[in-house]
Amino acid sequence: MKAAVVAHSKFTVSEIDPRLYGSFIEHLGRAVYTGIYEPGHATADEAGFRGDVIDLVKELQVPVVRYPGGNFVSAYNWEDGVGPREERPVRLDLAWHTSESNQVGLHEFADWCDKVGTELMMAVNLGSRGLDDARNLLEYTNHPGGSAWSDKRRANGREAPFDVKLWCLGNEMDGPWQIGHKTADEYGRLAHETAKAMRAFDSSLELVVCGSSNAHMPTYPQWEATVLDHTYNEVDYISLHMYFENRAKDTAHYLARSLELDNYIATIAGVISYTKAKKRSAKDVYISFDEWNVWYHSKERDKAILEGGEGWPEAPPLLEDDYNFEDVLQVGCILNTFINRADVVKIACLAQLVNVIAPIMTEPGGAAWRQTIFYPYYFASVFGRGTALKLMVDSPTYEAKDVGAVPYLDVSAVHDAASGHVTFFLVNRHLTEALDLDVSLLEFGAASVVDDQVIAHSDLQITNTADAPDAVKPVKGEEAVVSEGRLTASIAPLSYRMIRLKV
Ligand code: AHR
Repeated sequence: MKAAVVAHSKFTVSEIDPRLYGSFIEHLGRAVYTGIYEPGHATADEAGFRGDVIDLVKELQVPVVRYPGGNFVSAYNWEDGVGPREERPVRLDLAWHTSESNQVGLHEFADWCDKVGTELMMAVNLGSRGLDDARNLLEYTNHPGGSAWSDKRRANGREAPFDVKLWCLGNEMDGPWQIGHKTADEYGRLAHETAKAMRAFDSSLELVVCGSSNAHMPTYPQWEATVLDHTYNEVDYISLHMYFENRAKDTAHYLARSLELDNYIATIAGVISYTKAKKRSAKDVYISFDEWNVWYHSKERDKAILEGGEGWPEAPPLLEDDYNFEDVLQVGCILNTFINRADVVKIACLAQLVNVIAPIMTEPGGAAWRQTIFYPYYFASVFGRGTALKLMVDSPTYEAKDVGAVPYLDVSAVHDAASGHVTFFLVNRHLTEALDLDVSLLEFGAASVVDDQVIAHSDLQITNTADAPDAVKPVKGEEAVVSEGRLTASIAPLSYRMIRLKV
């Protein structure tokens, strides 16, 4: 089976915003406690942060991390997490039916971000709270001093402002499960007024308004049209979320779902354009896809806690999906979709980063390891910086229910002109047949393969565990070659591949 691709240095989608490879840490399950923070752990630093986790996060070169939620933020009082630790209250978290000790809050998390070299993307509570708390938090976080809230921050040990630039105006406010759920009009008005107040403090902030929680919400996509109608001129991004599952164990259909993602992005890009025209506005709004991942493996397990059957446990295991090899392919296709839509999707956050539906897992008091999905995320984040190329792709297809024709070859490519590299990210969705790949590298001049990484396995269900952390990992591909301006390679059935060229 053959697939042909044409890549041309002048045919591009867009410069990629590095924040396309962001992630997310919520006060949920063991993401914070025994995830990033575990005083007493053998690798913990003086502040209690796990060094083994810091190393793995650094390896991923995560450019931005959204915090502190998620559903958690919609009933969170940020003041509970600042000031002397012994005075911080324990609160009941209604979103996940757990207890929150508040031993980690804004100061600790911002310090952790500095340690791992990432930007903090902060969400404000527009569920149980509103404009007033958002403006107080902003003053506490970003004002140098000489006002009530900024002086409190200084008294709490942080002289210089945190200078957080990127702010989410609530979380999934379209979801009936959200504490303080609102209609699109109620939320749109509140988000507009909150954005206006935040901009009055600092007009250079980047603000993200809530779009839909998924493309199956009954209010989608009217939600986006209404919310943007209220907020268009005050915000920079509209957020979208999507999670993927394969409960039916139908690999071909599962791997087709990135086309739904593509359609979701295209639809909201259309709503943005419509609103821009309606407002006669000169400014652009982009998509912040600030929650995405595979999420289904842990759902049965979590029911007891989420339904309150275990009381109010502190940092229990929740949403601990054990990712398998099949999920590598799905995550590869999702990342390709974001790269191919880099003109409208500027920020995307893999939800989440540690323990909770995460590429990094830990055992309390024990090891930290890379889940299977760590690898496609790693390759995209580290080697996917530059300009997304507009590829012409000719691939055989298969039919998937509710999706239509699905190309067997899923591919994106990024040109880093500064370093002189072109990197291809490829997934072969075919269950049994290899794809003979033929890429025409017009205009790139002399090129050679400098890296070729393959992730493949005969068992789709295999996972990486503390005892077998390397069951799934990339191996060096060997037969990709460039000759006379053509890259050729055989892409194995159900495999992920990264091929990096020096051009
Ligand atoms: O990431 C897990 C949860 O999924 C988040 O808290 C919420 O925003 C979404 O529904």
